[in-house]
Amino acid sequence: MRLRRKPWARPELAACPFFVDDPQELRGRWASRFPRRAPVYLELGCGKGGFLAHEAACHPEVNYIAIDLKSEVLALAKRKVEAALAAAGRPADRVDNVLLMSWDIERLHLIFGEEERVDRVYVNFCNPWPKPGDYKHRLTHTRQLINYRRWMGEGAELWFKTDDDALFRDTLNQYLPQAGYRTVFVTWDLYREQLPDNVPTEHEEMFAAQGIPIKFLRARPEGREGPP
Ligand SMILES: C[S@@+](CC[C@H](N)C(=O)[O-])C[C@H]1O[C@@H](n2cnc3c(N)ncnc32)[C@H](O)[C@@H]1O
Repeated sequence: MRLRRKPWARPELAACPFFVDDPQELRGRWASRFPRRAPVYLELGCGKGGFLAHEAACHPEVNYIAIDLKSEVLALAKRKVEAALAAAGRPADRVDNVLLMSWDIERLHLIFGEEERVDRVYVNFCNPWPKPGDYKHRLTHTRQLINYRRWMGEGAELWFKTDDDALFRDTLNQYLPQAGYRTVFVTWDLYREQLPDNVPTEHEEMFAAQGIPIKFLRARPEGREGPP
């Protein structure tokens, strides 16, 4: 993703009450950082935050943690969350069900302890890393999925969308089974399914406009099945 430098991004995030400046400090007590006890949904690589903003505004009963490497996109996400909550009639100066942070997802284990619990993990349009030598950096690679399942409680699900056929095929056929997940829903063409609750991300809108089929799956760690 190409982005112009935004000198305002870091200062604006530093002043934002729902931006976590030092995520390592919260290790072991993420849930207590929210005013309300609620299911926790984790979005990995949230980018500009359109998906997060829509979800958080529509679901005050869910606590969202969204992570990206880049301050530039997180600052845009911060503004989108505030705007979406304001549009939903909730006070934009008291965003209480979102935490944003800048962190490398490959080092998630340094900020989430074994005792942490998440109820859903979203991976939307992550980098496909097309060269075999780089596969290990894919956010759905086996070694990443094994990490996520440490924090996924009973009934928790991974929701994964991508435009990339090879990444989707490898995730479905190799990474998920190797990491002990069971796929509970899969489509190679999300828009043909016309799922009424689908919330498009910025990348999804771009790829869908180009006529590229959007691939989507939901999967659960085996042994944590919960209700259907
Ligand atoms: C292709 S964009 C997709 C953004 C958004 N999810 C969407 O669908 O529009 C991928 C995002 O993941 C972030 N990202 C990639 N690798 C990451 C990592 N290891 N840790 C944190 N963020 C990462 C990038 O900075 C980028 O914003």
